[in-house]
Amino acid sequence: MAYILEDEFGDIIQKARSGRGLSVAQVARETQIPRGQLSKMENYTLKPTAERVEKIAAALGLSTPKLLDIAMERWAPTKWDVNFDSAITVIPLSMTLRSGYSVYCYLLTCKRTKASVIVDTGGNPDKVIEAVNEHNLKPSLILITHEHSDHAGGLRKLQVVTQAQVIASAAVALPSEVKECTKLEDSAEIELGDLSIKILHTPGHTRGSCCYYVSKAVFVGDTIFAGSVGRGGFSYQSLLQSVRDKIFTLDDDVHLFPGHGPITTVGQEKAHNPFF
Ligand SMILES: [Fe+2]
Repeated sequence: MAYILEDEFGDIIQKARSGRGLSVAQVARETQIPRGQLSKMENYTLKPTAERVEKIAAALGLSTPKLLDIAMERWAPTKWDVNFDSAITVIPLSMTLRSGYSVYCYLLTCKRTKASVIVDTGGNPDKVIEAVNEHNLKPSLILITHEHSDHAGGLRKLQVVTQAQVIASAAVALPSEVKECTKLEDSAEIELGDLSIKILHTPGHTRGSCCYYVSKAVFVGDTIFAGSVGRGGFSYQSLLQSVRDKIFTLDDDVHLFPGHGPITTVGQEKAHNPFF
């Protein structure tokens, strides 16, 4: 299988190690794996053996069987069905960043009323506007998961052109050029046609990171990826707790739409994400 996950084994162990405040030398001592070889594994230039995966998982508080499946490239989420939800339509927009990495933002529509919103900017307002026009949508809101430039870059332009109201979490730190942002408390609800979208505060990747939950979908930004999590830039432990409290308490068939990598579900992440 072509391996499609956003994060490889090397990314996962690097995120877990730095999240726990450990140096490569400390993990090397703990696992009895030479420091240089650990660095090579983090940089994808050395494949780990199953025995080493076990030792590293134990040292970093990761799940051994789940990490082993990813290290051996044996797991990826099943491809999502675009008709997964009878109430909403989700259109993923893939943007390529200058760095060569890609990011997803989304157009979300209430099927019955055609009310629509934009989730994140993908750092490329022109491409979002193009897609909005192509699908003949009139988005009333722009929901921002967090302030990083690949998610909120170009927000002012998108706001001016679409005249949509910007929504973010109460703790978000958006650029000052973004005027009139509505900052919501945890669990606040906003209208999307017949439906309501609930904001879930999920601090961890950034202090003001949040997710948006509607019908059978959650837009998770960089809080959780298929088989991984975002970098715990604000707090690694808060990030893991946010996922446990706000995402893993939802039904297994709820779909997760991340900022990077493939779409997944709550059930698949509970079963396969090595951070849990
Ligand atoms: Fe981010």
